[in-house]
Amino acid sequence: MSPETAATAAYIVAALLTVMSLAGLSKHETARAGVAYGIAGMAVALVATVALAAGSLTAGGIALLAAAMVVGGVVGLWRARVVEMTGMPELIALLHSFVGLAAVLVGWNGYLEVEAVGVAQTTVPPELLGIHSVEVGVGVFIGAVTFTGSIVAYGKLSGRMKSRPLTLPGKNALNLAALVAFVALTAAFTITPSLGLMIGITAVALALGWHLVASIGGGDMPVVVSMLNSYSGWAAAASGFLLDNTLLIVTGALVGSSGAYLSYVMCQAMNRSFLSVIAGGFGVESGTSASGTEDGEHREVNADEVAEMLTEASSVVIVPGYGMAVAQAQYPVADLTRRLADRGIEVRFGIHPVAGRLPGHMNVLLAEAKVPYDVVLEMDEINDDLAATSVVLVIGANDTVNPAAMDDPGSPIAGMPVLRVWEAKNVVVFKRSMAVGYAGVQNPLFFKENTSMIFGDAKARVEDILKAL
Ligand code: TAP
Repeated sequence: MSPETAATAAYIVAALLTVMSLAGLSKHETARAGVAYGIAGMAVALVATVALAAGSLTAGGIALLAAAMVVGGVVGLWRARVVEMTGMPELIALLHSFVGLAAVLVGWNGYLEVEAVGVAQTTVPPELLGIHSVEVGVGVFIGAVTFTGSIVAYGKLSGRMKSRPLTLPGKNALNLAALVAFVALTAAFTITPSLGLMIGITAVALALGWHLVASIGGGDMPVVVSMLNSYSGWAAAASGFLLDNTLLIVTGALVGSSGAYLSYVMCQAMNRSFLSVIAGGFGVESGTSASGTEDGEHREVNADEVAEMLTEASSVVIVPGYGMAVAQAQYPVADLTRRLADRGIEVRFGIHPVAGRLPGHMNVLLAEAKVPYDVVLEMDEINDDLAATSVVLVIGANDTVNPAAMDDPGSPIAGMPVLRVWEAKNVVVFKRSMAVGYAGVQNPLFFKENTSMIFGDAKARVEDILKAL
C-alpha cells in the first residue's frame, strides 16, 4: 500500500471517530466516551499526517515539525490542566483564534508559494489557478474573521474588555461595506493575484471579525462562542481545500455545521434572531440601556433565618448560576438537597440554558456533586411550577432570573426567557454584593417584597445554612 493510500485510510478512520465523538458529546451519559473518540481521532490524524509529510521533508524540516508539535503539545496540556472550569469559555475562544490564524497562514502560504516558484512548480494545475485564488481569498477571509472575532470574545469573556456592545454609528452599513469590499477584492485577486490585494482582503476580514463580535452584548456571548466554533470549523475546511486534505475538509465541515446548529438552538432558547447575532447585532437599537438604574430597598437575611424558612417549606427550587461555579458551592448544595429531601421537602433544580459561562455548565457541576439527574430540570420544565413553590434559592445567578428581560423592552436582555423565580412565595438570593451580572444590567428581583438577600461567598453561606439546620 502506498503511503498516500495508507494516509487516506487513516483519514477515513479519523473522520468516523470525529462523527462518533460529536454523537457522544450530545448526551451527559456518553460525553466521556465522546471525548475519548475525539482524542483517538486526532491522534490517528496527527500520526498519519506527520508520517506522510515526513517522507518529503529534510532532516531540518522534520526537526522543526517535531519541535512545533512538542511546544504546542506541552503548552496545550499545561493550559488544559490548570484552567478552572469557569475559565473554559475564554480558553475555547482563544483556541478558536488559533484555528483562524492557522487558516490565514495556510491561505498566505497558498499565495506566496505560487508567487515564489511560479504556478508550474506547484501542485496547482495552471488551468485551476483562478479556483486556487478564490480558495486563498475565502480561506484568509474566514480565518481572519474567526481570528479577531475570537480574540474579542476572549477579551469579553475574561473581563479584559467591556462586555457592553460597541455601537458605532451605521454599524450595519459598515459590516455590509466590509462584505462588499471582500467580494470585490477577491474578484480582483482571482483575475490578477497581487500582494496589495492579499493585504486588503486580510485587513478587511480582520476588521470585520473584530467589529462583528465587539457589537454583541454580554448576554448574547454564549451564542457568539458557539458561532465562532462554527467559523473555526469552516476555516479548517477552507484550509483543507487549499492543502488538498480531505480530512480537514470533512472534520472542518462537521465542526462548522454542528457549531452552526448549536448556535441556532441557543438563539431559539434565548429568543434571539440567529441572523441578527451573526450579523453583529443587526437590528439591535443603539439606544438600549446598558446598566439600568432601578434601585430600591433590599432585605438582608442570615443563614439561621434561611434555615428556618427552609424547615417550614414544603417545596424548594434551587436556581444555580455562575456564582455557584465561582464559589465551587455545588458540594454543600448537594448536601443541602439531601438534607432537605430527608426531611420530606421536595427539592428540585431549575437550570437556565445559558446559566454559567458555557453550555451545560450547571449540569456538569451538579453531576460532579452527585445530584441525581431526575431532580435537575430545564427552565421550561420548571417555570410553571415556580408560583406554587415555597422557597427558591438563587445561588449565584443573576441575569438568568432578571424580570427586566420580560418587563423592560429597552434592556439589553429584553426578550431573553428567564426563570420566573419572583412568582414563588419566598426567594433567597445568594451573592457577595449588589453588583450586576454578566450582561451588566441591574436586577429588579433584588428589590421585590418576597426577595431576601444573603451576602457572602455562596459556598460559605450554604455551609452556614447546613450547620443551622
Ligand atoms: P451572572 O448573571 O453572571 O451572575 C452571576 C452572579 O454570581 C453575580 O451576580 C455575582 O454577584 C454572583 N457571584 C459571583 N461569585 C460569587 C460567589 N463566590 N459567591 C456568591 N455569588 C457569587 O450569572 P448567570 O445568572 O448564571 O447568567 C449567566 C450569564 O453569562 C448570562 O448573561 C449569559 O448570557 C452569560 N454567558 C453565558 C454563557 C453560557 S454558554 N452559559 C457563556 C458566556 C456568557 P456578586 O459579584 O455580587 O457576588
